[in-house]
Amino acid sequence: MSFRPFSLLLLAVACWQLPALAQQATSAASPVWPPVAEAAAPSQGEVLFAVTCGRCHRAGGMGTGILSRRPGMLAGGLLEQREDLIVPFVQTVVRRGIGNMPRISRGEVSDPELALIATYLAKGKK
Ligand code: HEC
Repeated sequence: MSFRPFSLLLLAVACWQLPALAQQATSAASPVWPPVAEAAAPSQGEVLFAVTCGRCHRAGGMGTGILSRRPGMLAGGLLEQREDLIVPFVQTVVRRGIGNMPRISRGEVSDPELALIATYLAKGKK
């Protein structure tokens, strides 16, 4: 019976550790692991751009192809690599359409979604 106090001590230590263990389990269940990768996760604007504009405006898209043939166009026609886009320009183009780009209605892309996309493309410019 001399080991009894020792087992009680073990039990006490185990209970004391429980909250810490639970916390470890929750952070391990985080969708992005290791946590440092969260900073590199795509922004909401980038995800929305990929979904709604990507088929025309990423590499190989029709918009990229047409824009790359414009005189003086930099960045190979890729909107995401341009430094001259500002938020209101992107919003106006999307709502009115331009050349071969059809207008995109609020039913397809809401105003808050468009604001996120435009902010992403403008890279911080207003
Ligand atoms: C169906 C294909 C298509 C989709 C979808 C599309 N675009 Fe376009 N976009 C084009 C084409 C084509 C042009 C080039 C228009 C031209 O000059 O004829 C263009 C041009 C533009 C321009 C003008 C660039 C400039 O310098 O004049 C912007 C900004 C733009 N698109 C933003 C977007 C955004 C943001 C989305 C998503 C919300 C989007 N487009 C979705 C095809 C598309």
